[in-house]
Amino acid sequence: MKMKMVVAVMALFAVRHAWAEEQAVEVVHWWTSGGEAAALNVLKEDMQKRGYAWKDSPIAGGGGEQARTVLRARVAAGNPPDAMQMLGFTIRDYADEGLLGDLSSVANKEGWDKVVPAPLAKFSKNAKGQWVAAPVNIHRTNWIWANKKIFDELKISPPKTFDELIAISAKIKAAGYIPLAHGGQPWQEATIFDSAVMSAGGPAFYKKAMIELDPAALGSKNMEKAFDQMAKLRTLVDDNFSGRDWNLATAMVINGKAAMQMMGDWAKGEFIKAGKKPNVDFLCFQYPGTEGAFTFNTDQFAMFKVGEKQAKGQLTLASAVMNPSFQEAFNLAKGSIPARTDVPDTKFEACGKKSMADLKVAIKNDTMLGSFAHGHAMPDAVKGAGYDVVTKFFNHPGASSAEAAKEFAKAIEAAK
Ligand code: BGC
Repeated sequence: MKMKMVVAVMALFAVRHAWAEEQAVEVVHWWTSGGEAAALNVLKEDMQKRGYAWKDSPIAGGGGEQARTVLRARVAAGNPPDAMQMLGFTIRDYADEGLLGDLSSVANKEGWDKVVPAPLAKFSKNAKGQWVAAPVNIHRTNWIWANKKIFDELKISPPKTFDELIAISAKIKAAGYIPLAHGGQPWQEATIFDSAVMSAGGPAFYKKAMIELDPAALGSKNMEKAFDQMAKLRTLVDDNFSGRDWNLATAMVINGKAAMQMMGDWAKGEFIKAGKKPNVDFLCFQYPGTEGAFTFNTDQFAMFKVGEKQAKGQLTLASAVMNPSFQEAFNLAKGSIPARTDVPDTKFEACGKKSMADLKVAIKNDTMLGSFAHGHAMPDAVKGAGYDVVTKFFNHPGASSAEAAKEFAKAIEAAK
């Protein structure tokens, strides 16, 4: 009798186990900071409610370089995950290789075309126009996050010009604070460079240089001006910036050690996670000279062709990601705004509302432009060549901006 019971329990366990295996969806991502993890939890819980176990495969490293390297190796070994967090041109690369599954059945049924802005949808589809990725958010890179207490104490306001930014930074430094919290990693320098290029030449110039890769624009006076700004910003960071993770730099602003950080709005996710409120504890404003412009990146979930058994779970994940109330809940924690334009801004705080309003105008004026730093301006290999020049310049105080602009143009031309 006892034996029979044991066998029955074991059989039940085996069935349960097989069911769990069948229902699990493996997702590779680089959302490991406090704010990022809080946002990801919304998706994990959503999938669990839909009957799927979440097989978590996090690969730490802001901007996702490490995660992309691991993915490349897994794909080469014939072991891709079910789903992967992906940015812009990376999606295109995997789609061109024919490795991504077609999500069009869900996308067409749910009318994604009507709600996803065209500059963003362009990265969600393969060459045949089939949906191969589900966009979860819209991030913006041309933000500055500031500690309000320091600004109030020193009676300074958000700078309207780059010169004003340098002037308030002198006051901040004199009062014993670090003007700019920065993490010395190539992608973080590139994130600032997005804004410097936009500020130096405006949206039409940014588009010509960084998206159309026009050699004359890339080596122009405006590009030299962008490098000039980078050189001045280098003087505003502390001595220990090298290699620092972006969220530790954000923490320096949250804790009042530093006054500002130039970073995409995933930084806002850290402020929110720490219980901080915009216009009470922190300020958000555009890098001077980029007001109204919108350098964007969007996190999307691309699904690999891994067989029929997993397809249902993948389509369920795609549908979950595109659900309007999910997009609201997720983006409230992530710091970004929904990828769908039909989600109301009611529940978003001041910075989120501003981003949503600015996006509408940017779409109309064609100034919603892909971020160089986050893989939405140029193919990944070309971007990498650009990163090298920007980071080398930032780490060599005294280097010539004119030379750097020439080198930047040369590196992009050679890689494209
Ligand atoms: C991603 C964000 C992420 C950030 C820092 C960006 O490339 O789009 O979702 O929070 O990197 O890791």
